[in-house]
Amino acid sequence: MKLSSRAHAATESPTLGLTAKVNALKAAGEDIVGFTAGEPDFDTPEHIKEAAREALARGLTKYTPTAGTVGLRAAIVEKTQRDSGLTYEPKQVIVGCGGKHVLYLIFQALLDPGDAVLIPAPYWVSYVDQTRLAGGAPLIVPTVEADDFKLQPAQLDAVLALNPHVRALILNSPSNPTGATYSAAELAALAAVLERYPQVVVIADEIYEHLTYGGVPFASIAQVPGFQARTVIVNGCSKAYSMTGWRIGWALGDAALIGAMTRIASHETSNPTTIAQAGAEAALRGDQSAVETMRRAFEARRTLIVDGLRALPGVQCLEPTGAFYVFPNIAAHLGAGETADEFAARLLEASRVAVVPGNGFGAPDCVRLSYACSEANITAGLSRLAAFLGA
Ligand SMILES: Cc1ncc(COP(=O)(O)O)c(C=O)c1O
Repeated sequence: MKLSSRAHAATESPTLGLTAKVNALKAAGEDIVGFTAGEPDFDTPEHIKEAAREALARGLTKYTPTAGTVGLRAAIVEKTQRDSGLTYEPKQVIVGCGGKHVLYLIFQALLDPGDAVLIPAPYWVSYVDQTRLAGGAPLIVPTVEADDFKLQPAQLDAVLALNPHVRALILNSPSNPTGATYSAAELAALAAVLERYPQVVVIADEIYEHLTYGGVPFASIAQVPGFQARTVIVNGCSKAYSMTGWRIGWALGDAALIGAMTRIASHETSNPTTIAQAGAEAALRGDQSAVETMRRAFEARRTLIVDGLRALPGVQCLEPTGAFYVFPNIAAHLGAGETADEFAARLLEASRVAVVPGNGFGAPDCVRLSYACSEANITAGLSRLAAFLGA
């Protein structure tokens, strides 16, 4: 069958693809130590599940408004005021089927052919494909380990000066895959550059907002004076509340942009699942202690995995300040012409350890390990890695 050129251009998400492969190997009885999962290994907190059960019992099984229930949108407005000190009106909020879906809607609503999206690398895999699917052009700007993988103001200025077609900038903090977290001062410095380029919308992917470590506070570029109006915030329940399968994410921003996203969604998904919205509302309004319990567990695992990786010969590893990934540089272990793809394949084949190669994130010298897994898994994986690397 002849498929569209759009379909040909779309690549499979390498993280989802690899996780599926690892799960299939495990199901076939293979002894695999997996570091590929992009989701917390905890169960969704009980009070959230109870709210969804109750919604079912109350018969909340019908369509809701496309942008989400009035109750959930109000809870998102209150949550954003509480956590970020930012005031929004309900018409500035859309709930979608996960953060991934609202990002897709943002690109669809913002981009015309020829518009570029500035994506600092390493980047989360879907930004590139979603930009292309909307007819836009990804403009990848590499960042370096020496800068903690953070976009530098002078670099941003140079790229924007040369590329007048940049319509949007993606800022993902804390970052998947690097774990880098921009401070308020760093965001203010980037904002000072953006002042000179008013045509650029900032897409602030804050899905890991609640997962920062070592006392590093979360900051949003929308908090920089004057920047709320030109920022669209993406957030959701997946990571903070261990609700990846519930598929609830949202965007907050300019009412015209949110309105356009809502019109597009009205022909696409309609509303996110009604019962999941009830659970999300309970997550945002209810007891927040589970979020901190999970964050602490991730913080302890971060220390374990970073210390272990740093002890391996020829492995460079920044200490992540957020999310639940480490992104070590394994260039010293690559054969001539070899990239992380082949390294990861060798590692899986020889030592039954699954990591995500950095190629898909725009960093072919690195691999991503998720530490959203048990300490026993981390310890076993580290000792297999040590043996593999001849340590
Ligand atoms: C940086 C980033 N943004 C957005 C998402 C989307 O998450 P979800 O669609 O589950 O809300 C993810 C999930 O892996 C992510 O890592």
